[in-house]
Amino acid sequence: MSSTLAPTRLRLGVNIDHVATIRNARGGDHPDPVRAAEIVAAVGGDGITAHLREDRRHIRDADLARIQAATELPLNLEMAATEEMLAIALRHKPHAACIVPEKREERTTEGGLDAAGLHNQIAPIVGKLLDAGIRVSLFIEAKAEQIEAALRLNATIVELHTGEYAHATGEQRAAELKRIADMAALAAKNGIEPHAGHGLTYENVQPIAAIPQLAELNIGHYLVGEAIFTGLGPAVSRMRQLMDEARG
Ligand code: PXP
Repeated sequence: MSSTLAPTRLRLGVNIDHVATIRNARGGDHPDPVRAAEIVAAVGGDGITAHLREDRRHIRDADLARIQAATELPLNLEMAATEEMLAIALRHKPHAACIVPEKREERTTEGGLDAAGLHNQIAPIVGKLLDAGIRVSLFIEAKAEQIEAALRLNATIVELHTGEYAHATGEQRAAELKRIADMAALAAKNGIEPHAGHGLTYENVQPIAAIPQLAELNIGHYLVGEAIFTGLGPAVSRMRQLMDEARG
């Protein structure tokens, strides 16, 4: 049997939080993140990602059921490791729950979850999500100690934080890319499905998309920004095309 595996299709999860950010700026119903989810589904996106933050600054509780009702696409619910969010996740039973660090004052999820340092806080939450049949993802820095912690927590998935890569240039970007590629390989070797996301754009997505072990990218802010100029459907399609090209 040949050891050369055909490149697997890299899934694209679209984070629609910032459609809700714009909606909430005026306090009404427009633009509706549900309509965004329908467009993502129509153009072949593979999943919807939404972060219900503690302060509800973008996605609101009622959006979750509406998104789930509007599309068959798997919902990846980003959530802090709190009892409140656990109860919401258990009620909605998303396809996956991605545990993220959350600070009220941050503009976005600025760093990875310290899965190693917070083991005792995270473990019961991960356990209850897994028991409910929800795939559990941990949004972590691409570091061996964090992958090892994810293994101890029985996480299904690790989403590697690409923020440092996205902000870096030149040699530093190459070093960040290698770190992500090495940790994607380490996760896959240990039976954890590696994903990646944060700060990805048309310009920087391809080297990440070319990492063969990655199964999914989650991309939000840039796509919603591009959607202002080109529409969401064309923006998602363009990202999809760049990812496919990178996979050869
Ligand atoms: N993945 C996770 C876990 C995130 O928290 C975010 C940002 O909310 C993203 C992916 C998407 O990042 P961006 O909006 O920069 O594309």
